[in-house]
Amino acid sequence: RALDLEHVKLFINPVLSGSSHIHFKPLNILFSCFCYRIYIQNLQQLQVIRFVVAEINGNPDILPNVTLGFQAYDSCDVLQLDLKGALQAVTGYDRIIPNYRCAGDVSLSSIIGPSISTHSILLSHILRLFSYPLISHYATSPLLSNKREFPSFFRTVPSDIFQSKGLADLLLHLGWTWVGLLAVDTDYGQQGIQLVQQGIVSAGACVAFSENILTSHPDRNAPHIVKVMKVSTAKVVVIFANGIDLIPILEEMIKQNITRILIASDAWSISTMASLKTFSAHLVGTIGIALNSGTIPGLREFLNTIHPSMTLGRYLIRIFWELTFSCKFIDDKNQTGYFSNAVKECTGSENLASVQNVYTDVSNLRTTYSVYTAVHAVTKSLEDMKNCKYPQGSCPDIWNFKPWQLLYYLKKVRFKLKDGREVYFDKNGDPPTVYDIVNWHLSPSGDMHHVKVGSYDMAAPPGKVFTINTSAIIWTTGERQVPISVCSQSCPPGFWKAARKGEPVCCFQCVPCPQGEITNQTDSFTCIKCLWDMWPNSEKTTCQPKPVEYLSYEDPLGTILSSTSVISSLVPVAILKIFIKFKTTPIVKANNYSLSCLLLVSLSFCFLCSLVFIGYPQPVNCLLRQVTFGMVFAICVSCILAKTIMVVFAFMATKPGSNLKKWTNPHVSYVMVFICSLLQFILCITWLSIASPYPEQNIETQPRLIIIQCNEGSPTAFWCMLGYLGLLASISFVVAFLARRLPDSFNEAKFITFSMLAFLSVWVSFIPASVSAQGKYTVAMEIFAILASSWALVVCMFANKCFIILSARPTPLATAELTAKHRR
Ligand SMILES: *[C@@H]1O[C@H](CO)[C@@H](O)[C@H](O)[C@H]1NC(C)=O
Ligand SMILES: *[C@@H]1O[C@H](CO)[C@@H](O)[C@H](O)[C@H]1NC(C)=O
Ligand SMILES: *[C@@H]1O[C@H](CO)[C@@H](O)[C@H](O)[C@H]1NC(C)=O
Ligand SMILES: *[C@@H]1O[C@H](CO)[C@@H](O)[C@H](O)[C@H]1NC(C)=O
Ligand SMILES: *[C@@H]1O[C@H](CO)[C@@H](O)[C@H](O)[C@H]1NC(C)=O
Repeated sequence: RALDLEHVKLFINPVLSGSSHIHFKPLNILFSCFCYRIYIQNLQQLQVIRFVVAEINGNPDILPNVTLGFQAYDSCDVLQLDLKGALQAVTGYDRIIPNYRCAGDVSLSSIIGPSISTHSILLSHILRLFSYPLISHYATSPLLSNKREFPSFFRTVPSDIFQSKGLADLLLHLGWTWVGLLAVDTDYGQQGIQLVQQGIVSAGACVAFSENILTSHPDRNAPHIVKVMKVSTAKVVVIFANGIDLIPILEEMIKQNITRILIASDAWSISTMASLKTFSAHLVGTIGIALNSGTIPGLREFLNTIHPSMTLGRYLIRIFWELTFSCKFIDDKNQTGYFSNAVKECTGSENLASVQNVYTDVSNLRTTYSVYTAVHAVTKSLEDMKNCKYPQGSCPDIWNFKPWQLLYYLKKVRFKLKDGREVYFDKNGDPPTVYDIVNWHLSPSGDMHHVKVGSYDMAAPPGKVFTINTSAIIWTTGERQVPISVCSQSCPPGFWKAARKGEPVCCFQCVPCPQGEITNQTDSFTCIKCLWDMWPNSEKTTCQPKPVEYLSYEDPLGTILSSTSVISSLVPVAILKIFIKFKTTPIVKANNYSLSCLLLVSLSFCFLCSLVFIGYPQPVNCLLRQVTFGMVFAICVSCILAKTIMVVFAFMATKPGSNLKKWTNPHVSYVMVFICSLLQFILCITWLSIASPYPEQNIETQPRLIIIQCNEGSPTAFWCMLGYLGLLASISFVVAFLARRLPDSFNEAKFITFSMLAFLSVWVSFIPASVSAQGKYTVAMEIFAILASSWALVVCMFANKCFIILSARPTPLATAELTAKHRR
């Protein structure tokens, strides 16, 4: 028997063992065992059992008349000893007699421990045969949640599944989407890291590298691992390992001079091993997930009461005493020898109250609190069993119950601890999941502190599950903001994330949105098309209404064209004035005065009709613009045609025997003008009644503009109208061309030929120009053609005549010249 056996009803057997656990030389063990490390925390864990049991036994409200007891056994981190301790507890005797319980007067309620998952698995397999509850305070393997295999296993620490989830949430919460993973090659590391990887990958984050710490290598494969860390761009490395296996890695990191933000799993997040001063520069700022801490009122005072003379845990206490007070117990026969360098003798009157060390520190109780919870859970289930309300006879007897009877109550146990925390086991035997997020701070004295900066509480309402106070975190890199660990910088609004071929999804390229599309969010995977009347701004972050385009009067082009047309329209008017003033001159008379006047008036309207094309295309504008243009030009060109034909008639009539004399009457020309215009008029009316033009918004021609334009209704009709004008002009041209050599004193045919030639060439060149022009330039092109052709007619038809009329004016100067000419 390793430790004291008090008189028991409750048989709690803390099998203190595990990688971070206390060892001291056990007595009377069957096989030799060399325990070479001592973990002072475990003395605290042992004392907390004493504390709780004493508290319960001293409280008349809890299990009155029942005294609880416990037996502690040190297994020295050896599986065989864990097994031996458990079987001893079951036998109730210091010899193992399988399947027999020798301590018949004392019921064994449960076993607390061991701390190593593998050992817990083995013990669970054995203890399920007897249905003895096994409550581990530190075994975190997810395998143990399998209730078909381990029906009598419970634990007061959350399964690693939740730890990995918590770590993944931590990474995602801090926006780290590009992280490295390191894990020891044991079940703990491999399962843990796999779950972290699943968690972060399913959330869209990526793993930069994943390496194993090989426990079989003396250097733990550190040179390779650190090289990988150095090459990678990931600034954050999650490490699933225990402190011992981490030391070679840290040493290599110092050698290669790299620092990374380390994320610690619970096995080393509060380890004192790794916080040795040499590593402090590389470890400060480490963030870890740790078992949640609690406070146990009165524990500090209780811890001070231990004394080397106590029988329970005597050897451990003596070692602790020697270490703490740097003294040596001389009276012992080389029993400890741990602190052989000490010269001082331990007196036993040293005072623990003023000592500050791992044992006396009760500010952040984690594993100790887990042990505390386990003892309370057993006590509460015993109480529930005692208070059984079933009919007489079917309730178990508290003095003599079967293990499976207590198991039933332990499964259903639910109570609150003094600090308000609720304790129960879910259907897998797991407790409510609560973790602390700790951050490693360096105190001015150079000690490392594990400061709680957040928590991960799965029982909390949604949204509160993960809380972290980033402003309380000290970063390894010394930054004030949360450092960034991403493969590619996030894409600003206006860009979308395009995957890079053959690389993880977190490595992407920011590609500007295609034309007409936007994103107003960072890190968008797609761009959104703007509505039909919207267009992106230059940053492609919002859609703006498209600007509207039409040829307006304010537009410089519009202003020039409109003023040109107004000024130009005055020219025919001026010529008309001259004609009226000199209508008695032979040249005016010979030119069919009234037809000329009609031509001039219509020419003036030709210029003015271009104004209908400028300005916002209202429905009326659209309806009238082409028709007005067609009509005015039809009148104009038919006047010229009439003139041409009249010239031919006039010449023919002078021939002897001609009966064409009557055709030279001016009325004939009016009729001709009327008929020609009437045809155009009919064409126009037909056009308007069948397919009238209407205004429309054109978004196809220019994607970033809305062009307000007139839809001609029927392009055929437009080209027919224009074609008709062309036909009239061509007839004039041909007739005038044939008549150009006619001997006539004021032969107009020559000028008509020129004017029609100019007119036709303007409109022929208009065809390709109008087809290729876009938006307001189509309209401007037509106005230009109108102005140009009108000017061609004005100049060709009237310039020469005006010159003659004006130069023949009977001014004194002109008269003198004329006289001079005649004299010659
Ligand atoms: C405790 O034991 C005493 C005497 O043995 C008895 O009188 C008392 O009723 C018991 N109390 C309970 C709660 O069983
Ligand atoms: C370690 O690296 C830091 C920058 O990363 C540099 O400033 C420092 O000088 C390096 N130290 C040694 C010893 O190489
Ligand atoms: C105690 O151990 C020391 C060195 O390990 C040895 O020299 C000494 O003889 C031992 N004393 C006894 C009483 O065994
Ligand atoms: C977060 O930490 C900072 C610095 O320690 C502290 O001032 C602040 O009160 C904390 N915020 C919360 C919500 O706890
Ligand atoms: C982004 O655009 C959507 C849809 O247009 C809108 O609902 C949202 O408020 C915008 N967000 C921002 C930040 O502008």
